[in-house]
Amino acid sequence: MWHSTEFMTTPIMQGIKDEGVDVRIIKLRATPKSIAVKEFWTARGCLLGSPTLNNGLFPSVAEFLSYLKGLRPQNRMVGAFGSYGWGGGAVKEIYDTFTQMRLEVVKPGVQVIYRPSTEEKKLCCEFGQEFAKKVKSYHGKF
Ligand SMILES: Cc1cc2nc3c(=O)[nH]c(=O)nc-3n(C[C@H](O)[C@H](O)[C@H](O)COP(=O)(O)O)c2cc1C
Repeated sequence: MWHSTEFMTTPIMQGIKDEGVDVRIIKLRATPKSIAVKEFWTARGCLLGSPTLNNGLFPSVAEFLSYLKGLRPQNRMVGAFGSYGWGGGAVKEIYDTFTQMRLEVVKPGVQVIYRPSTEEKKLCCEFGQEFAKKVKSYHGKF
């Protein structure tokens, strides 16, 4: 809504790159679902970000996740991140859905209130590094 989740994405991506792992950002609000799902399918891992809107997911993220769930992907390392204003909810919803889908979910997902501070951007970067390390050592069938 105000790019706060997007401001988390750059340091997360930097953390992943620091570990020598190739990474791409897919903006769900500007990408057809079919293309986003193809990107998911050809990747070993996925971090899904969403702001909280009315206690839940941003609509384009909800649509993607629902579509993805129906395709029953397996053997992927996944995680969640997002910005919220008060009670939150989006990161938990992504986490719960990925868990139901029996994917390899990294917990906890990283969350910030409104825009990430400099300190929180560092945490985002560390989250990206940890995720990349897990992707590299994940031995699920791919
Ligand atoms: C219409 C609307 C509904 C929102 N609902 C919630 C909510 O239920 N819970 C919450 O914690 N934050 C809520 N927020 C706050 C946003 O999650 C917060 O502003 C967040 O930083 C937006 O991230 P974004 O800029 O990436 O969209 C809402 C914001 C808007 C505009």
